[in-house]
Amino acid sequence: MERFIINSALDMHLHLRDDEMLKLVVPLTSKNFAGAVVMPNLVPPITTKEVLLEYKKRIKEACKDDDFNPYLTIFFQVDYTYSFLEDIKDEIIAVKLYPFGVTTNSETGVASMDVELLRPTLQSMEKLNIPLCVHGETKGFVMDREKEFLPIYESLAINFPNLKIIMEHISTKEAVTLLYKYENLYATVTIHHLLLTLDDVVGGELNPHLFCKPIVKRYEDREALLKVVLEAYSKIMFGSDSAPHPKNNKEAADGAAGIFSSPIALQVLTELFEKYEKLDNLNSFVSLNAQRIYNLAPIKKQVNLIKKDFIVPEIYTFENEQVVPMFAGKTLLWSIE
Ligand code: NCD
Ligand code: ZN
Repeated sequence: MERFIINSALDMHLHLRDDEMLKLVVPLTSKNFAGAVVMPNLVPPITTKEVLLEYKKRIKEACKDDDFNPYLTIFFQVDYTYSFLEDIKDEIIAVKLYPFGVTTNSETGVASMDVELLRPTLQSMEKLNIPLCVHGETKGFVMDREKEFLPIYESLAINFPNLKIIMEHISTKEAVTLLYKYENLYATVTIHHLLLTLDDVVGGELNPHLFCKPIVKRYEDREALLKVVLEAYSKIMFGSDSAPHPKNNKEAADGAAGIFSSPIALQVLTELFEKYEKLDNLNSFVSLNAQRIYNLAPIKKQVNLIKKDFIVPEIYTFENEQVVPMFAGKTLLWSIE
């Protein structure tokens, strides 16, 4: 097969940042994707309608002539009232919950995952049919953080049976198993959790550009994720979690967590699905499953992939901003025409 068409690709977990970085990264998604779920962990985070609408406007401007739908989210707060959520509902696709301090810009996250504390807001969301996206990690040992969080997912799923709960960027085989157990649990999966293990980050020379939260895990975890993704299990969607940080903040002590993968995502996915002879399932993973789960009717947009080497740029720049993509300098087998 020398060509492959992806229809209305959707990235269901994306960080676009702001200012120069926003102008740098938005076109790298808006050119090929029909839409993306935009994370609210700016500094300060997005928690009001006013700030949200301004941010949406800046994203739209950065898209230039690209036809692209940014689906915005707000940063979960325990004091969101029913009327606040009712008023903002049409402007957002979901509310994103971060436990305090578990990842980049989560200092204003919830202090406790006690269900009773979260109940008023989650009940309102359930009534209003607003999905909940969750960064599911504890503050335990880095390799166990997601696994330790799974009982919390279970408790949320049981307590709020009509709430759609999206386990973001799942990274373990145990998370995959949990997906099958509760009807109202869904998940996004990144390309890095499908392709890498901890060996790629610290097993040889340290690679800060592959450092992210949740950290990539064991071979058996990658296998379990690959299996459900390649079959395009209906509760799983593609979400890149592409999370750009300036080069200086990545190649540093106190290096920031986040992998910038937007520019290579579709090429890498095509290579992966082709390798396992599962290209027939790729459109479900990158678009159709998300359409069904979130009830979306994205704009029509075709991306033609051709089997031709693509050398990943070493760096992307805009004015003073510089960001290093995942697999910088590597050769991929598929290019976008
Ligand atoms: C993300 C970021 O940089 O905003 N970082 C990351 O490692 N994935 C936040 C997140 O999604 O956890
Ligand atoms: Zn993220």
